[in-house]
Amino acid sequence: VKIDIHLGAKESPKNELVIISAFSKEVADKNKKAPAKMELVNTHWPKEYKEAFAKLKSHTRFHGKKGEHYKFPLTSGAVVLALGLGDKAKLEYEHLRKEAAKVFKAVKDHYDHPAILFDSFIIKNKAEESLEALLEGLYLVDYKFELYLSKKSESTFKGFQLISDKAKSLQKKWDDIHSKVLHTCESINFARNLVNEPPNVLHSEEMAKRIAEDAKKLKGVKVTVLTKKDIEKEKMGMFLAVNRGSAYEPRLVHLSYTPAKATSKTKHVALVGKGLTFDTGGYSLKPGASMINMKFDMAGAATLYAAFRSSVLNHAPVKISCYLGITDNAINSLATFPDSIVTARNGKTVEILNTDAEGRLVLGDVMDYACDDKPDVMIDAATLTGAVLVALGTEVCGLMGNDQKLCDELLKSAKAKDEYLWQLPVIQEYRDSMKGSISDLKNISNAGDRNAGTAKAAAFLESFVKNEVKWAHFDIAGVGDSQSHLPYCPSKGASGLMVRSIHHYLMNAK
Ligand code: BES
Ligand code: MG
Ligand code: ZN
Repeated sequence: VKIDIHLGAKESPKNELVIISAFSKEVADKNKKAPAKMELVNTHWPKEYKEAFAKLKSHTRFHGKKGEHYKFPLTSGAVVLALGLGDKAKLEYEHLRKEAAKVFKAVKDHYDHPAILFDSFIIKNKAEESLEALLEGLYLVDYKFELYLSKKSESTFKGFQLISDKAKSLQKKWDDIHSKVLHTCESINFARNLVNEPPNVLHSEEMAKRIAEDAKKLKGVKVTVLTKKDIEKEKMGMFLAVNRGSAYEPRLVHLSYTPAKATSKTKHVALVGKGLTFDTGGYSLKPGASMINMKFDMAGAATLYAAFRSSVLNHAPVKISCYLGITDNAINSLATFPDSIVTARNGKTVEILNTDAEGRLVLGDVMDYACDDKPDVMIDAATLTGAVLVALGTEVCGLMGNDQKLCDELLKSAKAKDEYLWQLPVIQEYRDSMKGSISDLKNISNAGDRNAGTAKAAAFLESFVKNEVKWAHFDIAGVGDSQSHLPYCPSKGASGLMVRSIHHYLMNAK
């Protein structure tokens, strides 16, 4: 969707559809309903508008409540669409994102180029934050994955004109906000495409290639792709054990970004992503129904690449290194047997009691590799456990880590971007449960243990953090996919969630 912002508009819009907001008023008498509260913010408008607004204000059936809307024609032939948003004092930015997404869906097949009277959508008296939220809603909802449909949807929709009475001198600032949002949303849609691609197309070699090609276009980014040979040289025994049954080579994509004004004090953040292009479970094979959609098991890598990409484009103030461990988890005669004991890159031995607990094997080796670069902070993201769905549903992302201050900062970033994130504890008992009797570690606590699976997986990962790196882990197995409760996310397919939170953290890290 194309959006252009017009500040200091001196004329009324000529668009066929003009979208404005309306709020509801509280009245003391419960039996009475107040008419909608409308603010004719654009005061210089012609009489016709003023009269129409006045009429609407006294309308007895339209109260400006959330979900209500009212359309009325002007003599010019244009149509005004008033969107009820409810009590203005209770509105949050997330409401703007959701409303914007709903509006897009409602108008895109009926109008070509509607105007949005932006000033009427400013909440909390914060124009810039409101602008950001509204734009996010519009750009995130405009996503389709139609690559494999022989008949693609057609549209004549040209986009929105965002009109504001605010001073023309703000144009550059608002255009900057606009381009930042666009960078983030385009990166999110890039990630959604990767996740939605089927596993026969997007196998490990292809995924690494696509990311490396895209990353090479980013300024100030160094791109390295480690092949199987390199990964063998690095002695990543756990990563290689997962790849053993695959028809494709493993890949470790290593990207690094240094901001233009970096000094020796510049913070360095490492991002480590689980990139399982498909997870069959290996010899601990998943039942058919649970295997469906396991193409999305690379969503952690896609999420972190999107956060990296967007942060580079928006000139994040920190050094960022991104490490993506990419393979599938398949079976052939070479595939790793349950009971196998392998040696991790950090020298620890690990008994693989369940080949379906593969994400932690890949991540552990890649995290150890990342810690060699001595980052201040390391964040991993992974579709790691089905247990996170039991604990937090599809709506809330799990957070774990070894440093409370870092976890608090990440929780704050998620709050700032209205994404649900909840911390789970990693306790000594969980760590103990991952210790082996004939090996240093086991990749699951016990066969049949269904308790605290998400945090026990984190306890396993924690043993691969070294050099006093502060570490946090996002389990996105629930939030990575279909979000039918969010109008700006597809109800089927990759959500693209948590990119905005992690991007926010990177843009504000000091
Ligand atoms: N990729 C899965 C996690 C997953 C499961 C994501 C269901 C989304 C929905 C992961 O590799 C896995 O298989 N985990 C196992 C771990 C278990 C064997 C300890 C799981 O959650 O069942
Ligand atoms: Mg698995
Ligand atoms: Zn997996």
